[in-house]
Parts: sequence; C-alpha cells; structure tokens
Amino acid sequence: MSAHQRTDFLSRVERAYQGEIYGEALYNGLAEAITDRSRSDKWRLLAELEAVTKSQMRALVEKLGGDTRESEVFRQKGVDNVAKYSSLAWQDFMALYSRELEPVIARYAQLERECAPEDAATLRFLTEHEVVTKVFCDLELQGRADVSIEPTRALIASARKA
Ligand SMILES: [Fe+2]
Repeated sequence: MSAHQRTDFLSRVERAYQGEIYGEALYNGLAEAITDRSRSDKWRLLAELEAVTKSQMRALVEKLGGDTRESEVFRQKGVDNVAKYSSLAWQDFMALYSRELEPVIARYAQLERECAPEDAATLRFLTEHEVVTKVFCDLELQGRADVSIEPTRALIASARKA
C-alpha cells in the first residue's frame, strides 16, 4: 500500500467506526421510541451489537494510529434520525432499512478485501454485523418476526466468546 492508499484506508476505517456511534445512538433511540415491546427489545439487541462492533473497531482504529474520539456529530445524527424511521409503518421501515444497508455492506466488504491479514477478522465482523441487521429486516418482512433477531443474538454471543 502507498502512503496515500494507507491514509485513504484509515479514513474509511475511522468513518466505519463513527458509523457505529451513529448506529448505537439511532438504535437505542428506536428502542425508546417504538412502543411495541417485542420490536423495541429487538432494537435494543441491535444497539448492543453496534456497541460490540464499535469497541472492536475502536481497537482497530487505535492500532492503525487513527482518531478514536467518538464524534458528537455522528451521535447526534443518529438521535436526529430516530423520528425518520419510527414514524414509518413497520413494513415500510424494514423495507427501507434493508435497502439502505446494501451499499454499506458493499463498502465494508471492500475494506475486508484491502486490509492486512491480521485485521481481516475485525473487518469480517464489521461486514457481518450489517449482514445480520439486514437479515433481521428481511425476516421481519417475510413474516418471521419469531426468529428475525436470532442471527444478531448469535453474532453477539460469538463476540463474547472470542
Ligand atoms: Fe452498525
């Protein structure tokens, strides 16, 4: 990697880290705003996965010599976006969010392809956590609300074991 490529890679890793700060604020806000108890609990778990991913990403940013300070701008953006999603009908929300995750998954998969071998596991987890979030939305849309959060739960458990 050239110096320029390294700087570019690090800035995208930092951006992904701040994305977890955004997501954690958004998902906790959704858990608060959503009145349906079971749906609210699911967003609480998704927020927990964001926190787990954030701490793994913070370690990576630190190792790469980046800025680990949590961005207030990203956190506030998460808070501000709660109403945008919670005001939608559930099916519309799930369909929109599933679609919005597609480019994010592609972006993180690209980071995995570019990274050093020793950072692959962290970036694999980063991509995978967005995949299980999308799977959650898709299972909700397919009427499988009974199992939709299970992949998220399993990924959190796998991080705790590691
Ligand atoms: Fe996330």
